[in-house]
Amino acid sequence: MKVASLLSLASWVIPRFKDEELRTIQISQTEVLDVTDHEKLLLKRQGVRFFDITAFPSFLRSKEGSKVVNYSYPKQLTNEKKVSEILERCDTKAMFEDLALFTNFYTRYYKSEYGYESATWLSNRLRNVTKSLGDRATQFHVDHHDWKQFSIIVRIQGSETPENLIVFGSHQDSMNLIFPSSLPAPGADDNGSGTVTNIEALRIYTYYLNKTQDWPRNTIEFHFYSAEEGGLLGSLDIFTHYAQQNQTVVAMIQQDMTGYVEDSQNEHLGLITDHTSPLLTNFLKRVIKKYLNIPYVETKCGYACSDHSSATRNGYPAALVIESDFSKKNKYIHTTMDTLDRLSFDHMAEHVKLIIGTIAELGNWRFERLSNE
Ligand code: BES
Ligand code: ZN
Repeated sequence: MKVASLLSLASWVIPRFKDEELRTIQISQTEVLDVTDHEKLLLKRQGVRFFDITAFPSFLRSKEGSKVVNYSYPKQLTNEKKVSEILERCDTKAMFEDLALFTNFYTRYYKSEYGYESATWLSNRLRNVTKSLGDRATQFHVDHHDWKQFSIIVRIQGSETPENLIVFGSHQDSMNLIFPSSLPAPGADDNGSGTVTNIEALRIYTYYLNKTQDWPRNTIEFHFYSAEEGGLLGSLDIFTHYAQQNQTVVAMIQQDMTGYVEDSQNEHLGLITDHTSPLLTNFLKRVIKKYLNIPYVETKCGYACSDHSSATRNGYPAALVIESDFSKKNKYIHTTMDTLDRLSFDHMAEHVKLIIGTIAELGNWRFERLSNE
């Protein structure tokens, strides 16, 4: 059904109130619509994908077609020892326990009180994970204007070129697509899995740093975005702000859905090739070949499906790694059936290897900006 007919159907079912607040969404390169919250949900249920650009429409529209800045990444990977030393501590039991607690919240819907409580749990867990680093690891809450669930940034400051940010992202919110405000949304795979993948990578990297004091030259950040399901809202706030502040993000790697394996005889990762940076994605291929036990396939979302798009949208090189080929992904997401019993923790551990391999190779890398021809 066309978007226009969907919208007229929506306004027939629930008419717009006079003075009802409208949100601005961008559904393609050229189409921007003003819709109510109810219309937005109806579009999402019908599979229409969008950025919610209410907070900065003119800024984003003016960046239409803005070029992603390119950097060179290592061709030869040489940090086997460091990678295996860090990965020794990777513990699927710890990941299971984190995910069990995280999916225990009735929902992590960004507008709900539960979504605020789950963010508070996550913040405390991250504090606990990094506490041995004292003030060498800092945590920031990013409060958003229109909803209560905050985003979280954990930063390990680079020792020599702290202005270069390497970002590992994942969204923390979940959503039941039928009735987000009243039905449960365990969101084990979408995106509890990406969240615990990043927590585990941070936990074992912290242990390594504490033991070796081998601080990275560049800054490493872990981001836990709020309100991805509302149209990439949390990450748009963050990356738009970073761009306005002229921050340098040299790589952004998003983990969204890392736990589902449809066919264990054909286990692989999915590297997304649309709305992503080819140079960064090619570098990740090298990391996978060198440090993981399973192969990758190249695949497409077909739309701006996760928070990496907020980074590319602001001119930063970004990649998205998912659990499999897009066609073999978990079919239970956005429902009450997105539960942890359907997931493989060994598969999530492969995603952890990708993060650790990337940190080991890029943490001390001397980034050079390439000309954009
Ligand atoms: N986790 C999904 C994106 C995804 C889908 C990743 C399949 C890997 C495989 C994400 O939470 C989501 O639901 N995205 C929205 C679009 C977004 C712009 C609101 C979607 O796919 O409908
Ligand atoms: Zn989702």
